[in-house]
Amino acid sequence: MPDDQEIHRGLEGVIVSESKVGSVDGLKGRLIYRGYDIETLVKNSTYEEVSFLLVNGELPNKGQFSEFLKVMNDGIKLPEKLVSFIDRYAGYSHPMADLRSAVSVLGSEEHESSDLTPDQQKDIGLSIIAKMPAIVAAIKRKWEGKNIVPPKSGLSYAQNFLYMTNGSEPSRDEAKVMDTCLIIHADHGSNASTFSSLVTISTLSDMCSAVTSGISTLKGPLHGGANEMALKMIKKIGTPDNADKAIGDMLARKDKVMGFGHRVYKVYDPRAKILKEFARSITSKSGKQNLFDTAEAIEKAMISRMGDRGIFPNVDFYSGMVYESIGFPENMFTPIFAASRSSGWVARSFEYVKDNRLFRPRTKYTGEVGPREYIPMDRR
Ligand code: CMC
Repeated sequence: MPDDQEIHRGLEGVIVSESKVGSVDGLKGRLIYRGYDIETLVKNSTYEEVSFLLVNGELPNKGQFSEFLKVMNDGIKLPEKLVSFIDRYAGYSHPMADLRSAVSVLGSEEHESSDLTPDQQKDIGLSIIAKMPAIVAAIKRKWEGKNIVPPKSGLSYAQNFLYMTNGSEPSRDEAKVMDTCLIIHADHGSNASTFSSLVTISTLSDMCSAVTSGISTLKGPLHGGANEMALKMIKKIGTPDNADKAIGDMLARKDKVMGFGHRVYKVYDPRAKILKEFARSITSKSGKQNLFDTAEAIEKAMISRMGDRGIFPNVDFYSGMVYESIGFPENMFTPIFAASRSSGWVARSFEYVKDNRLFRPRTKYTGEVGPREYIPMDRR
């Protein structure tokens, strides 16, 4: 039994692969996709363009983009069996569980086999990215006991997402908010869900399975599930005046304050900076200023106690109130995150499988070494 290895719990600091897709500089608070700063993409681009960039490596020219949009528009329609599945089974568990099952059903529909080329896997990946808003919106409608709204042609990815979710076309501002949320959540280095997608694709499994693994991993409260819990906490704290004591009490109990801290960022998460400004303007327009003020007071209380330990708001702290303003209830926050992150999962799985190496780390065995005497059951 070799006993020679240092343990890196949670693979912290371990570099497991190379990637050209994107990178996080946790000390400078910088997030890049293919070399473009996230702020530049939010200002100039759209989620469709960003997906093309992540998957193909460069921003598209006009011809490439119109071809890509055609793939996205053709791909958005859900197979009838999947619509029936959502109609029959969604709405009883958490929407993330519904989403995980729905993408799995899509995998059975796509008849993926393990001998597809990376390019064929990529095409299936694009079809999944295209379908994610339709799946998430259908689950949301089902949760609300409403009819499923099919996509409408001629709308952008963000517009269609909101159209299928709310049953009416969004305003220009609402579509911009949605598009921004999609862009900033699209990729984020070797995060837990992306890593589990890579582990899955590294076995030469298939793209739907890789995305299903990503969804399953994103579901947890330490990763994508934090956005829902952060907004619940802000609402529970209720007013700016309660914030300091509430946070002091939580930290004294060693509770995790959701929406704060990050394994990589030791400064302010650049995505949280973008979302905070959206949250500020949206809540002031919608008369929910108190919600934003409470969040800001929580932020102040956290930074004064934990800032010197590198704990600041992360992407999940302000995203909830932004999502709520465009028609999503709390339990749909993580599914939206998943829809957006599908392009990161697909881009990185496609990149990885082109130069594949099966993931197979080791664990240090700390159990009995034996050999132990086997005792029959009736004598135990
Ligand atoms: N609230 C209170 N204390 C915290 C927090 C927090 N949010 N984050 C870290 N700490 C403390 C933690 O208690 C520990 O203290 P001590 O050393 O005294 O035991 C210390 O900081 C280190 O914490 P850790 O959990 O070992 O650090 P990590 O690098 O594993 O943390 C994290 C990353 C995201 C798991 C953690 O910050 C956390 O649990 N945050 C709350 C959940 C959350 O907001 N998750 C969303 C992450 S961003 C979305 C994404 O990209 O996935």
